[in-house]
Amino acid sequence: MKKGALIICSCLLTLLFASYTNDQYKPSSLKDAFKNKFYIGVALNLRQIWAKDTAGLAIVKKHFNSIVAENCMKSMNLQPKEGQFQFRDADQFVAFGEQNNMYIIGHTLIWHSQTPRWFFVDEKGNDVSREVLIQRMKSHITTVVSRYKGRVKGWDVVNEAILDDGSYRKSKFYTIIGEDFIRLAFEFAHAADPDAELYYNDFSMSVEGKRNGVVKMVTQLKNQGVKVTGVGMQGHLGLDYPTLGDFEKSIQAFSATGVKVMITELDITVLPNPGQNRGAEVNLNYDYKKAMNPYADGLPKSVEMKLQQRYVDFFRLFLKHQEKISRVTLWGVTDEDSWRNNWPVFGRTDYPLLFDRQFKAKPMVEMIVGISKK
Ligand code: G3I
Repeated sequence: MKKGALIICSCLLTLLFASYTNDQYKPSSLKDAFKNKFYIGVALNLRQIWAKDTAGLAIVKKHFNSIVAENCMKSMNLQPKEGQFQFRDADQFVAFGEQNNMYIIGHTLIWHSQTPRWFFVDEKGNDVSREVLIQRMKSHITTVVSRYKGRVKGWDVVNEAILDDGSYRKSKFYTIIGEDFIRLAFEFAHAADPDAELYYNDFSMSVEGKRNGVVKMVTQLKNQGVKVTGVGMQGHLGLDYPTLGDFEKSIQAFSATGVKVMITELDITVLPNPGQNRGAEVNLNYDYKKAMNPYADGLPKSVEMKLQQRYVDFFRLFLKHQEKISRVTLWGVTDEDSWRNNWPVFGRTDYPLLFDRQFKAKPMVEMIVGISKK
């Protein structure tokens, strides 16, 4: 009898301890909160890559388990002139990722923006032939992906090739090669590193026309036997756009094609939009007007609360679909780092990220950690 009572007692104690630790366990960081759910990533700038921004790096090491280079792996930085590769920054970025056990993402191999003009023209400045541009694409992708084979785990292979109405962007890649440039880019990347994950990445992905266009394209690629591992929804959001419902429809639609879904460049602007475009057309810009920069001296509590609620709402949505979502990446460490301070109006003060200009976690970080346990 004694032995039986002892066994029951120890079982009860174990159960009690387990329930206590489970309910009371408080993750101390974002990466702990989302462990076994999805990677939580962040974009790094050169000051962080070269360890100049020590305060920012402390946040990166504590809260994140995935990194992407904000700029240094774009073709204009990697191959500014034909055949002249400069890998110093990218090598340092990958080395930092390996030293800190990060899931490393390469951004981005083929993009209409930030591609050096030499890709598209001959010595006379005329458009090159389809064959020449395909060869230049192949050389760039093969050289870059091979260099980081087995180290960069996933690549944004093609960035922003579809417009809001679902049609193809009439970039030079499209007009010279045709829509096939997308299939070719994925095939070149896959040949260079068969184990790397390969993504299509774009903004405004909750717009119905773009959603349908991307679903059609990804389905076509998969039917052609092309390896497409995932779709990146960039996640450049505003306080009042897009609706959670439209964003959720896109998560479901992309996942239904059989690929992973990622939120790849998350930030939420609190600033007024001078134009109609709600995307991230990086080449858009407007003259500075004071009215467009209402929070230069600080963020009113009411706006801070709205921003907080938006982040909590979206992270609740990501958790609801955690089986579809493999990664959520913030597009910068602190508000000071954000491209939003200078787009589409240069010289504004935005507050789009999770950490403030004093490198402090905003209250919403604890709230987001809290909902991860539910
Ligand atoms: O590094 C130079 C610096 O030496 C120079 O003094 C300065 C002034 O000209 O420019 C600096 O380079 C800038 C770079 O950001 C680093 O700050 C480039 O001009 C500027 O164009 C570049 O902007 C980046 C933009 O992509 C264009 O590449 C933003 O930081 C980056 O956040 C943004 O990210 C894009 C994604 O790659 C794709 N999705 C949309 C997203 C937002 O546009």
